[in-house]
Amino acid sequence: MKKNAFAQNRWESALQNNYGTPAIALAHGKGSVVWDIEGNRYLDFLGGIATTVVGHANPAVVSAVSKQIKELSHVSNYYMHEPALRLAEKLKDFTGQSGAQVFFCNSGAEANEAALKLSRLTGRPKIISTIGSFHGRTIGALSLTGQPGKRLPFLPLLKGVKYVPYGDLAAMERALSRRVAMVILEPIQGENGVVVPPKEYLRGVRELCDRYGTLLCIDSVQTGMGRTGSWFGYEYSGIVPDIITLAKGLGGGLPLGAMIAVSDVAPRFSPGDHGSTFGGNPISCAAGLAAISVIEKQGLLERVTEAEARIKDHLAKLPGVREVRGSGLLIGIVLEDDIAAELVEAARRSGLLINAPAKNVIRIAPALTVTAVQVNEFIKKFSRILSNVYQPTKRK
Ligand SMILES: Cc1ncc(COP(=O)(O)O)c(C=O)c1O
Repeated sequence: MKKNAFAQNRWESALQNNYGTPAIALAHGKGSVVWDIEGNRYLDFLGGIATTVVGHANPAVVSAVSKQIKELSHVSNYYMHEPALRLAEKLKDFTGQSGAQVFFCNSGAEANEAALKLSRLTGRPKIISTIGSFHGRTIGALSLTGQPGKRLPFLPLLKGVKYVPYGDLAAMERALSRRVAMVILEPIQGENGVVVPPKEYLRGVRELCDRYGTLLCIDSVQTGMGRTGSWFGYEYSGIVPDIITLAKGLGGGLPLGAMIAVSDVAPRFSPGDHGSTFGGNPISCAAGLAAISVIEKQGLLERVTEAEARIKDHLAKLPGVREVRGSGLLIGIVLEDDIAAELVEAARRSGLLINAPAKNVIRIAPALTVTAVQVNEFIKKFSRILSNVYQPTKRK
């Protein structure tokens, strides 16, 4: 039996089936390339779902983590340490707001749970989220998630959450009132198939939230840490959110999340209100700081937009592609037919890792360090795979 097949047997025996059984087990990686346990090479254009922002085994991250674990691995939140202080200061700087304050946790769901708890401190009972949104799988974050299929098996969830169509300002206005504590939104709905709202949407929602004294939480878990060419993904709109949530790329590949209370009107936690044993631990914070330093030193925020333009230009012309959407290196390739799952399989067999958030959408979210040569390799490989799988004659 081949090694991957053997690993599948072990997986099925020892792990729950919530992810289905993956086809391959990965052994190591370098930058935007990974190898499986049989030695097969893959170009990684998924990046741990928008997480390995500076690639696999980035020397700066490896060195920062190695140094940190030798010095101090975990101390609990009864004590301060330099990596958390420095990372919080860095994030605060990125918001551009002198009063911003950070709470560290370990994941996107936890960051949104923290935002939810913070919003409860307003004393208002209601929340508005958007249809198609994804905010995490814990009960609170799932209650915010606008995908009924994910919520239904786990009812009852939190009461008082209303879901409005994404991108629709009139619907948002109808739903808002002085009883709404918080509106939570992604700048781009990543899990829903990289759905981009109209350009004026975030600004419009900000104005509506101001009118009703409602907090605006921007969930930058997937769009953050440089992925769209800015630190949080909403900056193009010119708004200042009240709360930002982060995870994925924040830890440079290690588990780390954050909830930032940005504006003066956002409540703040008091001692005993909230906490997390591992949240903001020294090693994850050291990795996050190293990743940020790579992004800054290598000017990756600018490079992201160059790569985006090249990928969009090439892919938009391919037969079988209806639209290429997204921003920076969070790109959704919308297909003419529901062949996304088939494409993902064919791509993996050809040494390319991508994924399908919807039946007709392929998502790519490679490391921001992806090279021009690797972008060309992706375009070539993807074009060939699509031309093999897409059969226009079969269309009704
Ligand atoms: C926008 C958004 N929010 C929250 C989450 C949940 O993050 P985690 O899986 O780290 O809990 C995700 C994960 O995909 C996400 O894309």
